[in-house]
Amino acid sequence: MNRERVEKDFSWIERLKLALKKNRRDPSSRYFQLATIRPDGNPANRTVVFRGFGPNEEIQLISDTRSQKISELKQKQNAAICWYFSDTREQFRISGVVKTEPSRGSDLAQELWQKISEQARSQFYWPEPGHKFEELAQDFSSIDVNSSTPPDEFCVLRFIPTEVDYLLLRGSPQARFRSYRSENSWISNRINA
Ligand SMILES: Cc1cc2nc3c(=O)[nH]c(=O)nc-3n(C[C@H](O)[C@H](O)[C@H](O)COP(=O)(O)O)c2cc1C
Repeated sequence: MNRERVEKDFSWIERLKLALKKNRRDPSSRYFQLATIRPDGNPANRTVVFRGFGPNEEIQLISDTRSQKISELKQKQNAAICWYFSDTREQFRISGVVKTEPSRGSDLAQELWQKISEQARSQFYWPEPGHKFEELAQDFSSIDVNSSTPPDEFCVLRFIPTEVDYLLLRGSPQARFRSYRSENSWISNRINA
């Protein structure tokens, strides 16, 4: 019988926090890929920036309410993150659901809006993402960006993990752990890489 050994000492969230710390000299270590499901069932994937952790291992990011991913998430909240740290050679594949939080009335949205650069803020005042490009539709160099309050186009995505597949390329054999949420805790098993 193939009995799985439960690894009590393995914590994917601690590994992820450590990976962020160890790879911090590389700014791209804060980028990860977020995959969602299109209404026709096909996958959609894109790079996003990690903005912080919240309760219950929540992973936070920001986006534009007018973007494709938001309508995809409205139809199906399921999503997956793929995050690779090149210095420490670790991959985290995280499955979960995403909750979209509008900026209005959200303290977190307010806080994250104030943290991003003026350049990043101005993008939320640009024309509809994904629509046909119109040359000089407006002079966007003179947009009056409100630096204290986010516009309605700004939103926070709260990614709530349910399952994690962790792979460490360094070492022989390579280490791979599968973790899943069980009520209020996580159960991890070491599996073959
Ligand atoms: C390095 C990098 C970081 C990005 N960060 C974000 C981000 O934090 N949030 C976001 O919505 N889009 C971000 N984007 C743009 C997305 O990859 C994507 O092009 C955009 O969100 C539209 O995706 P969608 O049409 O699937 O919604 C980033 C792109 C790159 C290359």
